[in-house]
Amino acid sequence: MTDERSLTGKNVRGDGAGDRPVSGVQQVGDGPVDHALRPRSLEEMIGQDRLREKIQVLVDAARQRGDALDHVLLYGPPGLGKTTLCHILANEMGANLKVTAGPAIEKAGDLAAILTNMRQGDILFIDEIHRLGRAIEEILYPAMEDFSLNIVVGSGPAARNIQLKLPKFTVVGATTRLALLTSPLRARFGVVERFDFYDQDSIHRIVLRAADLLGVAIAGEGATEIARRARGTPRVALRLLRRLRDYAQVRAEGRIDHATAVDGLALLDVDELGLDELDRRVLDGIIIKFGGGPVGLDTLAASISEEGDTIMDVVEPYLLQLGFLDRTPRGRVATPAAYEHLGVAYPERPAQSGLFDRSG
Ligand SMILES: Nc1ncnc2c1ncn2[C@@H]1O[C@H](COP(=O)(O)OP(=O)(O)OP(=O)(O)O)[C@@H](O)[C@H]1O
Ligand SMILES: [Mg+2]
Repeated sequence: MTDERSLTGKNVRGDGAGDRPVSGVQQVGDGPVDHALRPRSLEEMIGQDRLREKIQVLVDAARQRGDALDHVLLYGPPGLGKTTLCHILANEMGANLKVTAGPAIEKAGDLAAILTNMRQGDILFIDEIHRLGRAIEEILYPAMEDFSLNIVVGSGPAARNIQLKLPKFTVVGATTRLALLTSPLRARFGVVERFDFYDQDSIHRIVLRAADLLGVAIAGEGATEIARRARGTPRVALRLLRRLRDYAQVRAEGRIDHATAVDGLALLDVDELGLDELDRRVLDGIIIKFGGGPVGLDTLAASISEEGDTIMDVVEPYLLQLGFLDRTPRGRVATPAAYEHLGVAYPERPAQSGLFDRSG
C-alpha cells in the first residue's frame, strides 16, 4: 500500500513544527509505520470509547438497512486517528475507499471526475476538507445532498448546464480546523464527530500493541513513561516508541525499561508532561515578554519567530488541555499552572484569565 499523502498532495510537514518529536503532525518517517500499525476494525481501535460506540451504531444501522453511510465529518488535532477511522469505516462497511484531500482538488473538473467514478456505497475520503476551494464546494453540495452533479460544459453563449445522477455514496471529511469549514459545507454532514486527546491508559495500550507488532521489547513502566509524554496523541506515542527503540538498541541491549525510557526521552528534550522546546518557548513568550498575557496570537507568534498556524495547530491544543493556557476574547493568557511548570513565580496582580472586558 502507498501512503495516501503522496497521492493526495497533503503536506507532510518538514518545517520546525513538523520536526518535533512531540508534534502530532505527520512527519516524513511516520508514513510506513503509521500504516502498518493502523487498527483495521472498530474492535481493534483503542480508546475514544464514546466515539467508537457512536460509529458502531452508525455502521450497524447502515448495514442492516443495506444503505450507504451518512456523510461523516471528523475533526480534531492532528495524529489522533481521523484517517485511521476513515479506513476502518470502509473496512466495516465493506466499501470501496477513494482518498483525496482539499488541496489536491484544484479544478471543478477534478472533482467531477472523482464523483462520476463513485459507485453505490463507495466512500470518498476528503482529508483537509477545510482547504477545498469555493467553486469546488459548490459542486460538492448537491452531490452530497441529492447525489446530483451539476456541471457547465462549453463557454459563452454555447454553455450548457448538465445534470447527472450519482449513485448513493458517502463523503468522509477530516479536518484539524472545524472553524474554517463554511457552514453550508458543514451542514451537508449528517454526522459530525470530534476526536479528543486519548487518556494515558489508552495510549499505554496503544504503545504495548505497537511494540508487540514491531517486535520491540518494552517493560510496562517504559510504556508508562511514553504514555505520560505523548500528549494524548497516538502518532506521538508511536514516534517516541520508535526513537526509544533506537536508543535502547544502542544503549540498553534493545530493551526499553523505565530508566532507558527516561534517559532516552530526556535526550529528545521532551519533559515529564510531553512539552518540548517549542511549547516552552510559547509559554515563556507569554509569561516573560507579555507579562502573562493577554496577548494576541499573531503578536505572540511574531515575538518568538514562529508561525501562528503552527502555534494554533500543534502547540495550543495540548497547552489548553493541560490547563496551562486560556483563550480569552483579548488574547492568550498563561495560567498559574504554567508559571509553576516553568518554575516562574506567579505575579502579584496576575493577568486574569477568562476576564471579559465589559467596558467597551
Ligand atoms: N485508536 C487507535 N489505536 C491505535 N493506533 C491508533 C489509533 N488511532 C490512531 N492510531 C495510530 O496513530 C497514527 C496516526 O493516526 P491517523 O493518521 O489516523 O491520524 P489523523 O488524525 O488522521 O492525523 P492527521 O490530522 O495528521 O491527518 C496511525 O499510525 C495509527 O496507527
Ligand atoms: Mg489524517
